[in-house]
Amino acid sequence: MPNLPANLIAENVPLWPLTSMRVGGAARWLANPNTVSDLSTIFAWIQEQRLPHAVLGGGSNVLFGEGGFPGVVICTRQLKGIRLNGTSVVVAAGERLSELAKELNRSGLSGLEWACGIPGTVGGAVVMNAGTRDGDMAAVLENIQILTPSGVRRWPVEDLKLGYRTSDLRTGCLEGIVLEVALKLHRDEPAHCIQREELILKSRRKTQPLGASSGCIFKNPETGPPAGMLLDRAGCKGLRVGTATVSTLHANFIVNEGSQNAADVLALIDCMRTRVLEQHGITLRQEVKVI
Ligand code: EPU
Repeated sequence: MPNLPANLIAENVPLWPLTSMRVGGAARWLANPNTVSDLSTIFAWIQEQRLPHAVLGGGSNVLFGEGGFPGVVICTRQLKGIRLNGTSVVVAAGERLSELAKELNRSGLSGLEWACGIPGTVGGAVVMNAGTRDGDMAAVLENIQILTPSGVRRWPVEDLKLGYRTSDLRTGCLEGIVLEVALKLHRDEPAHCIQREELILKSRRKTQPLGASSGCIFKNPETGPPAGMLLDRAGCKGLRVGTATVSTLHANFIVNEGSQNAADVLALIDCMRTRVLEQHGITLRQEVKVI
């Protein structure tokens, strides 16, 4: 056992319950800190032991393979707290994005309506610059606080290189764990915010499947038809490996209908990519991160 209090870290913990696709092996160690101070203790130990680590927010955009993870998975979803100050809000990394969006709408703070119904935590949403056609994190983000190997730092949004579903934190150019996020919103009538929220949720229910999934598997190409359309035209809807199935509602979604077998999902992702390459000559880039 590491030289850490037992309440900070657990050994050999299955990861499938922590991801929205509900597949994957076990983490050698899983840390679930409730406070920044606990997280700092764990991070210092990881640095000292030179252990590999992976940060897990809501687990809605990552897949762990059958072998799980050989080092420490740090789950940030217990880091909670929301502080409102006028049209600014400071949110801890572990808050659920969708719940935050709903709360802001009811407070008459507009800017995050697009995030209603999007799974995942606020920290994860920053790392991948989560978004939809109606908006993204980059548009509302002011700065973030991160834990780096040299301590806690505040990072302005301009220095994060946020792009379409990416950031310096995602590419690894910046090493750090998001602790909290400062957002700038604007005032509107709560009724108007809630009306937009309802329209967005209605449209999402019509076009995207419910069930265990990781959202869109592939990014949209920079030009030309979106990935969902390419996958649909390549006949991917309904393809299946084991219990992993390409949604019949949206061809860029895989729905896991039961097993915890990551290999099936990975094989299906390969099959989808190959079909689009063969039929359209386009190599789709993965949005979901495979660890
Ligand atoms: N389409 C098809 N067949 C399909 C799916 C889509 O023909 O199976 C067509 C649609 O009819 C539409 C076009 O493709 O004409 C685009 O589809 P959609 O409106 O569903 O949007 P998308 O580009 O597939 C993007 C984001 C979603 C986000 C929606 C709504 C990406 C990769 N996807 O999807 O984000 O929710 O817009 O704003 O950027 C995610 O990132 O995980 C995600 C789900």
